[in-house]
Amino acid sequence: MSPSEHMAETLSKDPAGDQKYIEINQVEMMFNTRKGNFHALRDINLKVRKGEFITLIGHSGCGKSTLLNLIAGLTEATSGTLLCAHREIAGPSPERGVVFQNHSLLPWLTCYENIYLAVERVFGATENKTKLQKRTLQALSLVGLMHAEKKRPNEISGGMKQRVGIARALAIEPKVLLMDEPFGALDALTRAHLQDELLKIVAKTQSTVVMVTHDVDEAVLLSDRIVMMTNGPAATIGEILSVKLERPRDRVALSQHPQYAEYRSAVLEFLYHRQSHPARDAA
Ligand SMILES: Nc1ncnc2c1ncn2[C@@H]1O[C@H](COP(=O)(O)OP(=O)(O)OP(=O)(O)O)[C@@H](O)[C@H]1O
Ligand SMILES: [Mg+2]
Repeated sequence: MSPSEHMAETLSKDPAGDQKYIEINQVEMMFNTRKGNFHALRDINLKVRKGEFITLIGHSGCGKSTLLNLIAGLTEATSGTLLCAHREIAGPSPERGVVFQNHSLLPWLTCYENIYLAVERVFGATENKTKLQKRTLQALSLVGLMHAEKKRPNEISGGMKQRVGIARALAIEPKVLLMDEPFGALDALTRAHLQDELLKIVAKTQSTVVMVTHDVDEAVLLSDRIVMMTNGPAATIGEILSVKLERPRDRVALSQHPQYAEYRSAVLEFLYHRQSHPARDAA
């Protein structure tokens, strides 16, 4: 049997296939506030393929973090269903690693210890200490931070803290990597470096990624699809743009690529012409 026939047979045995690795159906999110209910998200429908890189983009306050937190299982939808690997998302799970915007490292632990703690929580019951240490060191090495293993968060730069946060999420070998503006607070050069590192890491690990970003260039450079959200309240997915640029992607070569410019202007057009006034729309 040829590899393609084998693949076809495997897919036909699993009719759902890998096309719906994450599946979000008719999700609605309502927050109870002191002023009454706040309708954050409506009619969210999205299917993410295994190994796909998705970015969520939209104006501030539209509900990107709310959606990411739902996929992480940190909050529960008011209605609708969320599935990961064909099982309902019922809470946080090591199959879904989260990188928060503010890295959220424990300040009294070293970089090594911050990662080790997560590794121990996930693999501690089944693996010995040597194996756990190996996993921790591998994760540090993946993000190029072996030299900083003994440093505490207040002794390293913002970019390094972000890298520890990414290493901690990768160390638990999540099937899905969920990232909320992981490079938002960084200078342009560090950001570019980490984007390139992330592309290499994801190519190696084949993880499925959902990442929130404000940055149009970041979205085009990294994504297979860009999910563009309308303004809130009651925000939803306005449009999804497939980015069909070959991988591996090189930022310098891409900057000259006519198709890159087209994708970029399609996102800009959505954000600044069609969804240009978040405050007015919300009023
Ligand atoms: N726990 C909460 N209780 C009440 N309202 C909330 C809560 N969390 C979020 N919201 C509201 O839901 C909306 C979406 O918030 P969210 O944090 O998801 O936006 P966002 O797109 O991530 O914005 P930003 O780009 O600024 O991070 C906002 O109007 C916010 O005020
Ligand atoms: Mg947010």
